Amino acid sequence: MSTILRQHAENLFAQELEELKKQDGDQKPVNWVLSPRAVVTYLVGGKLKNGFEVSPKYIGNKRLMEIAVATLTTDRALLLYGLPGTAKSWVSEHLAAAISGNSTLIVQGTAGTGEEAIRYGWNYARLLSEGPTEKALVETPIMRAMKDGKIARIEELTRIGADVQDALITILSEKTLPVPELNIEVQAVQGFNIIATANNRDKGVNELSSALKRRFNTVILPVPDSMEEEIDIVKRRVESFEKVMQLPAEPPALQEIRRIVTIFRELRSGLTLDGKTKVKMPSGTLSTAEAISVVNNGLSMAAYFGDGQLKAHDLAAGIIGAVVKDPVQDRIVWNEYLETVLKTRDDWKDIYRACRDLGA
Ligand SMILES: Nc1ncnc2c1ncn2[C@@H]1O[C@H](COP(=O)(O)OP(=O)(O)OP(=O)(O)O)[C@@H](O)[C@H]1O
Ligand SMILES: [Mg+2]
Repeated sequence: MSTILRQHAENLFAQELEELKKQDGDQKPVNWVLSPRAVVTYLVGGKLKNGFEVSPKYIGNKRLMEIAVATLTTDRALLLYGLPGTAKSWVSEHLAAAISGNSTLIVQGTAGTGEEAIRYGWNYARLLSEGPTEKALVETPIMRAMKDGKIARIEELTRIGADVQDALITILSEKTLPVPELNIEVQAVQGFNIIATANNRDKGVNELSSALKRRFNTVILPVPDSMEEEIDIVKRRVESFEKVMQLPAEPPALQEIRRIVTIFRELRSGLTLDGKTKVKMPSGTLSTAEAISVVNNGLSMAAYFGDGQLKAHDLAAGIIGAVVKDPVQDRIVWNEYLETVLKTRDDWKDIYRACRDLGA
């Protein structure tokens, strides 16, 4: 077994992609590995004609995935937008893997991202010794995607300053990247497009420049609609974590996952699930992604410091860590929830006590 800590989607799901390709009778856009319909099946899962089961990667509204995939067949780029932890990066990776067979052409947007990370840079040693030549040019993932007709990914587009974001305008509207120093241009090959992700909650993000807005179709990824959907997401992700980490713990009882998701949904919405009690909302986002980590941490605690079975006291520290982001305000919110909601639930005494013991 490989010891790579995290496989790329195209490697991890190579068999599914291979089967989809074999069964794919639909027309493919130039340089796409799969047809748009097969890409959507890869994302949301399904059974192929020969009975092969494709696992769902994105759990939620299939229509959103269809819109995302359709966008990528046009001359507009795709922006996946939404709250933290709503699977924007996850969907972006799987889309690139299914469409181009390569999810690694990626630019991570930060406040320090400069134009050279989007257009191209120079190998200065070569530049000084040889002058500007094609060999001295350092290609960016975006330039490579243009040359090869593949999908490039930009993570956290709105962390990049607006002036640097605008370096994308010519790339997206004229599909070309001029290199005036060499008097050449790189023209994008069919199959090239960009998937960007951005979240609307974090501090320190910039606006998406309005010139760019017009070149992106935005798909907003929502927080899971129903409790059952969210439980399903957490369960699937935790199972795959357990497999990769080879934890000597038993798979978590659905009941524990249900309780974590309940706590998260109640605090997120400011109302208990039965609709009877209003609760204060903490400052953090309490995303599905965080619910997944709370269960994963709990499993690790259970495996190495407990009896191998996920129990309330393995989970308590993780829950408090996820809820209490602001040490003063959130602690008040949490204590109130603990005393007015958790304490009153007869079969939740173990979680109540475990959290109390940690001196919240
Ligand atoms: N609807 C969903 N379907 C499947 N997985 C989901 C869903 N929502 C969240 N996840 C899981 O949540 C985890 C985090 O998702 P991801 O990192 O893509 O979030 P993000 O939206 O990019 O967040 P951020 O804004 O913090 O970058 C992933 O492991 C993903 O599997
Ligand atoms: Mg992300």
